[in-house]
Amino acid sequence: MPVPFSLLPILICILTLLPPTTVIAQPFSRSLPINTTLKSLVYSGSGCSPGTVSSSLTSSALTLSFDNMYAQIGPGVPVSQNRKNCQINVEIVTDALWRFVVGWDASGAGEREMGTRIMGNMMLEEGVNATFSAGYEMLAGVEAGKSSSNTTFHGPLSGAFDQKLLALDGGEDGVVSKCGGGILRVTDQLRLMAPRNASVSGSLGPQEGSAKFVQETRLAWRAC
Ligand SMILES: *[C@@H]1O[C@H](CO)[C@@H](O)[C@H](O)[C@H]1NC(C)=O
Ligand SMILES: *[C@@H]1O[C@H](CO)[C@@H](O)[C@H](O)[C@H]1NC(C)=O
Ligand SMILES: *[C@@H]1O[C@H](CO)[C@@H](O)[C@H](O)[C@H]1NC(C)=O
Ligand SMILES: *[C@@H]1O[C@H](CO)[C@@H](O)[C@H](O)[C@H]1NC(C)=O
Repeated sequence: MPVPFSLLPILICILTLLPPTTVIAQPFSRSLPINTTLKSLVYSGSGCSPGTVSSSLTSSALTLSFDNMYAQIGPGVPVSQNRKNCQINVEIVTDALWRFVVGWDASGAGEREMGTRIMGNMMLEEGVNATFSAGYEMLAGVEAGKSSSNTTFHGPLSGAFDQKLLALDGGEDGVVSKCGGGILRVTDQLRLMAPRNASVSGSLGPQEGSAKFVQETRLAWRAC
């Protein structure tokens, strides 16, 4: 593909910054490409009632912050509180010269890094497990597929956590938008489990200081 002259200085700049031994298949942007916006955020689910999710976009991550992603289990706690979910559609529009790749880190040479981190607070008694899973899928502007990831905490555990999810599955291509961006769907599920008949309890949800449960998903910007 011919490279427009206006892009050459940017490419040369990226190339010079990389160590000489690095082989580059596709250059990544180190900053948020010009005119990139998070155009819309639509969500619903038991863990995200209206007005409780906020978002931000940087050169390396999409961050979602939840006020009421909070699950509980234990004597007297309704079963409906054992699980919380949220489905979020995020429309990201970028310049036609760029596309975004979910789960990649642009700080290296485009090496795949851990896709997602979650931060919050928990109290899990012995025997209680908590699983958080995140699915990613392009709904519009689809270049490549789907992927998902999860993590499980095993009680007894309590306090603040900052946890990386397992590496995203979904193959080498992962989730990639078309040039110019697209709509990314994020499907989150938080589930607490306790042994039958055990009178143990647990909860997992927002951080104490910020009152937010935070999900930070790596994004990288790849030249088209
Ligand atoms: C960014 O958006 C503005 C306003 O729509 C437009 O005039 C400008 O050409 C865009 N810049 C690039 C590099 O696409
Ligand atoms: C978590 O991820 C592993 C590995 O991809 C998968 O086998 C497992 O089914 C997932 N579990 C949940 C609860 O999503
Ligand atoms: C919690 O996780 C452990 C280890 O995987 C498993 O043995 C146990 O059955 C799980 N407990 C529940 C209640 O799911
Ligand atoms: C759970 O408790 C119920 C009622 O107390 C009892 O009938 C049942 O056998 C118990 N199940 C187990 C696995 O202990």
